[in-house]
Amino acid sequence: MRMVDLILKKQAGHTLTKEEIRFVISGFTDGTIPDYQMSALAMAIYFKDMDDRERAELTMAMVHSGDQIDLSKIEGIKVDKHSTGGVGDTTSLILAPMVAALGIPVAKMSGRGLGHTGGTLDKLESFPGFHVEVSSEEFVELVNKNKIALIGQSGNITPADKKLYSLRDVTGTVQSIPLIASSIMSKKIAAGADAIVLDVKTGAGAFMKTVDDARDLATAMVAIGNKVGRKTMAVISDMSQPLGFAIGNALEVKEAIDTLNGHGPEDLTELVFELGSKMVILAGKAETEEKARQMLQEVIDNGKALEVFKTFIENQGGDPSYIMNPEKLPKAKFITEFKADKDGYVSELVADEIGKAAMLLGAGRETKDSVIDLAVGLVLNKKVGDAVKTGDVLLYIHHSHDDIDSCIKLLRESVKISSDTVVAPILVHEVVQ
Ligand code: URA
Ligand code: CA
Repeated sequence: MRMVDLILKKQAGHTLTKEEIRFVISGFTDGTIPDYQMSALAMAIYFKDMDDRERAELTMAMVHSGDQIDLSKIEGIKVDKHSTGGVGDTTSLILAPMVAALGIPVAKMSGRGLGHTGGTLDKLESFPGFHVEVSSEEFVELVNKNKIALIGQSGNITPADKKLYSLRDVTGTVQSIPLIASSIMSKKIAAGADAIVLDVKTGAGAFMKTVDDARDLATAMVAIGNKVGRKTMAVISDMSQPLGFAIGNALEVKEAIDTLNGHGPEDLTELVFELGSKMVILAGKAETEEKARQMLQEVIDNGKALEVFKTFIENQGGDPSYIMNPEKLPKAKFITEFKADKDGYVSELVADEIGKAAMLLGAGRETKDSVIDLAVGLVLNKKVGDAVKTGDVLLYIHHSHDDIDSCIKLLRESVKISSDTVVAPILVHEVVQ
């Protein structure tokens, strides 16, 4: 088999066989297929697409390019949740203890974040002592006993995807549905999920700017999952404005604790129930959405979800007293009010720009080696659709340095007020299954 023939075949719009896809991915992973040929194939795929069978085979070829996490010693159906990424998205921190409280095993692997705010691991480091350096035996034991544990990213999960993603980044081939879908699904499958709930974001702060694009991606991923024997569902949700109020690591942890206490922001709470109910159904714990929601409400009302969160933090070296006393979490030196300069209605809180503003304060990583300031970030006081008067606080800036001019400038451009009434955006657009 010659790589150049496969490039020409795809360029002509034909489908690749399973053997051909395996040849490409194993050759690219071991270096016998050079970057320039792989780039050419990625560009051919970008223009000519792949059908559902090719997409599933590409996904599994990438799964097999590295290690797969063996969760077979963990009892029950392991349901994983994945978000395509947004600003201020704290759902994982809330969902994990909620579903674990219902006896659904949460065996999560987590890495550090790049961009707007940190990843789940960064956020949890707001609890002094918290760590994910547990052996795989310990990990399995913890999940079987308490239904929840977090382990650090294994170094050799889907190396083909890692390599391909960095090529796509510099060859204009990121925005390709088959390549994005296989990239995301391969990582979830290699991490051992039996079933997957996807939160596909749409809007300014998302990878997919329109609902149509988000639907295409969601449909592609659901098709891949179901084809390779992982029950998969997707929710298309709004990311035109940040989710909830808090953007920033410790601030989001506080927001997660509030939500587990039953008084989180309305949109964040609703999305948690929407995604959580799908997880409960895929885990086989409820037949209907209504029943699943009722069960999730119960573990909030009776404090069980919060209790599970405490046990989880404690099990992994963190100080659980912070959960009852969130004022102990890392705090920024300064809090500055950002106020409305006219009367009207909040018409836009451009999510990606607000995420960048939080990054300017030090809440996120510019590069892999940047150091995060856990305490800093933004807390919204108004959301899109809210009426405001001149001088009302739109949001609070939590910062450690006194020079925040560039952050304020960016906020002035991305928080918009109109004189006409504004309808709040739809939170959940569609469910794909
Ligand atoms: N996220 C991924 O993991 N892969 C992509 O290709 C795009 C977004
Ligand atoms: Ca938030």
